[in-house]
Amino acid sequence: MISKRLSIVASFVPQGAILLDVGSDHAYLPIELVESGKIERAIAGEVVVGPYQSAVKNVETHGLVDKIQVRLANGLAAFEETDQVSTITIAGMGGRLIATILEEGLDKLSSVNRLILQPNNREDELRVWLQAHGFQIVAESILEEAGKYYEIIVVEAGTMNLSASEVRFGPFLSQEASPVFVEKWQKEAGKLEYALDQIPEKNLAERQILIDKIQAIKEVLHASK
Ligand SMILES: C[S@@+](CC[C@H](N)C(=O)[O-])C[C@H]1O[C@@H](n2cnc3c(N)ncnc32)[C@H](O)[C@@H]1O
Repeated sequence: MISKRLSIVASFVPQGAILLDVGSDHAYLPIELVESGKIERAIAGEVVVGPYQSAVKNVETHGLVDKIQVRLANGLAAFEETDQVSTITIAGMGGRLIATILEEGLDKLSSVNRLILQPNNREDELRVWLQAHGFQIVAESILEEAGKYYEIIVVEAGTMNLSASEVRFGPFLSQEASPVFVEKWQKEAGKLEYALDQIPEKNLAERQILIDKIQAIKEVLHASK
């Protein structure tokens, strides 16, 4: 059984894909995808020895050593062109780290059809990086699990021209404005309003930053009504 977060990541993996899961930890995602019959083979990449060893052990326990190769490697160094990887998942890391991993292996990405990214934070910075490096967002999803909100961003090669609001809130997420999306941003606005109340009236510039952020949230929530 994988988490709701990982099962939504898995739902965006195309049938029959050859997968690289970067930062695979226990290799839960590739194991689930192979066992469910959605994919035939995968590479689980891990840069840290402890999680790498748990991935190796789990793959062995599930009897999948001929289908899932676990590799100790930094980011996209886990695959070569000859592996014919068609889809890459990178989940459960900060948005900046995901962008760094992609940037360090950018030349290898031309042969990959789809990236499924689940940043734990700084989603806006990741969208900016994607836009600047020849990717377009083809789908997004948002979910709540154990009190945390997670965004999933699916990209393919292409161009996009995101507005500031789309960078921050997600082009598909803000368009769809699901109940989870509304809840996330209502809570965020509440936190910012509380923070604003703590700032003395005389600190105009500091207050204005928060006022602008709150206003942007109100606009996107209003547009979604
Ligand atoms: C919080 S875990 C997430 C595990 C799994 N992907 C998930 O979403 O549940 C992040 C994993 O990424 C690994 N990691 C961090 N930087 C990495 C890199 N540059 N290359 C490969 N793995 C990395 C960490 O060692 C850790 O096991």
